[in-house]
Amino acid sequence: MNDETTTRNTRRPVRSFVRREGRLTAGQQRALERLYPRYGIEPGDGVIDLTTAFGREAPVVLDIGFGDGEALAEMAQAHPERSYLGIEVYRTGVGRLLRRLEEDGIDNVRVMDADAVAILRQHIAPAGLAGVNLFFPDPWPKKRHHKRRMVQPEWLALVASRIRPGGFLHLATDWENYAEHMLEVVSASPDFDNPNGGYAPDPGERPVTKFERRGRRKGHGVWDLIVYRTG
Ligand SMILES: C[S@@+](CC[C@H](N)C(=O)[O-])C[C@H]1O[C@@H](n2cnc3c(N)ncnc32)[C@H](O)[C@@H]1O
Repeated sequence: MNDETTTRNTRRPVRSFVRREGRLTAGQQRALERLYPRYGIEPGDGVIDLTTAFGREAPVVLDIGFGDGEALAEMAQAHPERSYLGIEVYRTGVGRLLRRLEEDGIDNVRVMDADAVAILRQHIAPAGLAGVNLFFPDPWPKKRHHKRRMVQPEWLALVASRIRPGGFLHLATDWENYAEHMLEVVSASPDFDNPNGGYAPDPGERPVTKFERRGRRKGHGVWDLIVYRTG
């Protein structure tokens, strides 16, 4: 898996992220302390009981690396019948989403400040998710960094094991060669059906995200892949 892959010489884990922030401001720290107990999930020792965490039975969609959480909040408002679990390592972004949840009275989102790969592996039950969104994951454009890219065959197998049959996986990127890599990895997997054959003709339910806007400003294209768990 991504975070267990080790480099030959150092045996250090290869991660999909580097922690971007320095210290949080006092205000950001206070917001996290006040709101994380309300919307955050502490993983504990085993599988998370999502029904208890959300306080209801509802299909759970995971958003990996939600950034500032703008798109996640929008999706949660558009789909009150679903529960959304957002996992992000960027604490400033986690704080921003927490404030938005409070301000807009959004109740169907829970948040984890954690490595999504580790959480998926250790704390999400098999077939526990109705869908997974991975929007504009860090592209790691240099060839020597490609091993840090989230979408790899091992990652896909892990994600597949956590999505219930018929559930969806939605990937999006503004990096053409990452899109090609995603398509190759997904097409080689027996765990997903792709009704579009290749890229999706439109972004479906995905709202415009902050990183999509940033990519478009730089003249990048955008590629979506929407596939469904077999079985
Ligand atoms: C390029 S940003 C995209 C943010 C957002 N999805 C958007 O489209 O605006 C990628 C995000 O993924 C987060 N990330 C990378 N690896 C992660 C991991 N293993 N677990 C959780 N978050 C991760 C990064 O911190 C970063 O905020």
